[in-house]
Amino acid sequence: MPDIIQLLPDNIANQIAAGEVIQRPASAVKELMENAVDAGATSIQLVVNDAGKALIQVIDNGKGMSETDARMCFERHATSKINTIEDLFRIRTMGFRGEALASIAAVAQVELKTRRADTEIGTRLEVENSQVKLQEPAAVPPGTNIAMKNVFFNVPARRNFLKSNAAEMRHIVDEFIRVAMAFPDIFFSLTTNGQQLFHLERGSLKQRIVQLLGAQYNAKLVTVQEQTDYLNITGFVGKPDTAKKTRGDQYFFVNNRFIRSAYLNHAVMSAYQDMIPADCFPLYVLFIDLDPSQIDINVHPTKQEIKFEDEKIVYAFVQAAVKHALAQFSITPTLDFDLDPGIQQLDAISKPFTEDKQAAAASSNLYKTFTQKNQAHFIEPSSKSELKHWRDLYEAPVTEATQETQTEQDIPIEAPAELTVVHLLSTYILTTSNRGFILIHQQLAHERILYDQYMQAMQGQPIAMQQSMFPVTLTLAPADAVVLHELLPHLQLLGYQVEAFGKDSFIVQGTPADIAQGNEKAAIEDMLEQYKHSSSDMKLSSREKLVRTLARQHAIKPGFNLTQQEMKSLVTALFSCTQSNIAPNGMPTYIEFKKDYLDKLFGK
Ligand SMILES: Nc1ncnc2c1ncn2[C@@H]1O[C@H](COP(=O)(O)OP(=O)(O)O)[C@@H](O)[C@H]1O
Ligand SMILES: [Mg+2]
Repeated sequence: MPDIIQLLPDNIANQIAAGEVIQRPASAVKELMENAVDAGATSIQLVVNDAGKALIQVIDNGKGMSETDARMCFERHATSKINTIEDLFRIRTMGFRGEALASIAAVAQVELKTRRADTEIGTRLEVENSQVKLQEPAAVPPGTNIAMKNVFFNVPARRNFLKSNAAEMRHIVDEFIRVAMAFPDIFFSLTTNGQQLFHLERGSLKQRIVQLLGAQYNAKLVTVQEQTDYLNITGFVGKPDTAKKTRGDQYFFVNNRFIRSAYLNHAVMSAYQDMIPADCFPLYVLFIDLDPSQIDINVHPTKQEIKFEDEKIVYAFVQAAVKHALAQFSITPTLDFDLDPGIQQLDAISKPFTEDKQAAAASSNLYKTFTQKNQAHFIEPSSKSELKHWRDLYEAPVTEATQETQTEQDIPIEAPAELTVVHLLSTYILTTSNRGFILIHQQLAHERILYDQYMQAMQGQPIAMQQSMFPVTLTLAPADAVVLHELLPHLQLLGYQVEAFGKDSFIVQGTPADIAQGNEKAAIEDMLEQYKHSSSDMKLSSREKLVRTLARQHAIKPGFNLTQQEMKSLVTALFSCTQSNIAPNGMPTYIEFKKDYLDKLFGK
């Protein structure tokens, strides 16, 4: 038998390895920007076309490369940043593995122009499939200008795996923000398809945060500053009233590297305990600096996870530093800012929870009912697979013999003329069915109704729009503007006429008829906030997510009083839905209590 094992050709080996480092255009953005930072640039311009799919270009004024280095940098494990094994324990640069450019050269067509300040003439290279196709002298400014075109042109499987331009662009903006946030003394710009999205002059960290996340944070940042022998923590946290329903604006940097850490996030959250509602997230931008030997960056290909030598100490310091900052700036929930109603309602703020109150609550009847064994078991949620309509609920139970004719006839679904409805606890609607009674949750039912209505609108029955008498302008944080851009065509079908106007601004020309004039701006901002918050890990299309968000936003809430007529319309509309028993989020819209079942409970 002949030997069969062969070494993979370089370009194939590089392509396989590239998968780890370059997963999508945004990963290349991160690597190229970090190289520019490592090269000591004071100005870094990022240009992307078609969300990076067509072009990603980074132009820096850093130290540039010699002719030989310009060829070498595309080799795997070629780096100027470490020499010896000891260097691994004192890494201060963003890169050190020498893999990024090799990976980029394996999956894209690359053009590199670079010059060192101490040489007259620079060099230009073209690289494709890991091979240098051309190198020639070039008259170029000092620094490096690297362009990668048609990412994954030679890896169709990966190319097809890319998401919509809007989705890929969001990832790019995220990476851009992370690098730009960490280096406020570097100028950054981001231009996409010829339009400048960010233009960040050099300045303080505070200025950079406001440039990136929006002017609403200007007066809302509290300085964090703690120096210890072991580590330093600096940065800003948001005053409690800036806490949002979305996790978005939270940044940890360790030695200037953006990292994710659920553990450290917990440390910050615990410092805010009782100051913000449980489902809200405070803003933070925190820089932890410590001896590089105390961390291991090499645990993940994208270097976004790191290991601390002593995680507990870091946790304790972070928690203490944030607590200290909040206390020092007297962020007590009474003085210097308007409180969000959600925060005011918090027990910790409105009423001290005394032992008396605790005892009273525990002895109340309600508490007993719900904690006694077997007391709640008669609640029988309708099964998810069962579709229920008026027909099932109000007509005589269908026998096998009649079933066939019934389904064939396609009887229009109508509410029974004599519908009895009772409002309970300002939240539930009680009504009878042919088999017993049903208890409808007003919010979940309304969410289902609106969801169906919006979905129909998307499928060609647009919702009526009312022209605003005074069109309002809306200016958003750049990242939010990207989200809104993506949603504009969908929103149009849903009765929102919103037009892009300048970089991060929009004009609201009209909204659906049920939004009160004057509330257009708040309605859209609120929608965006909830949209970002909604099920970010679920793989839903932006359309599905938008419809769910709007349905949730506009559904009547518990505690909202309804007239008899309103309840009847709601019940009728609910049972005209194709899936009346489940809300879009999967919760039941109503629970049926069958007479047979109730009888049995009473031993009858
Ligand atoms: N923008 C740049 N300016 C100057 N040198 C660069 C730049 N980008 C890359 N290099 C050089 O190319 C080498 C390889 O880059 P890369 O593949 O990203 O690996 P790493 O950053 O891990 O060293 C770097 O070590 C550096 O010497
Ligand atoms: Mg690098």
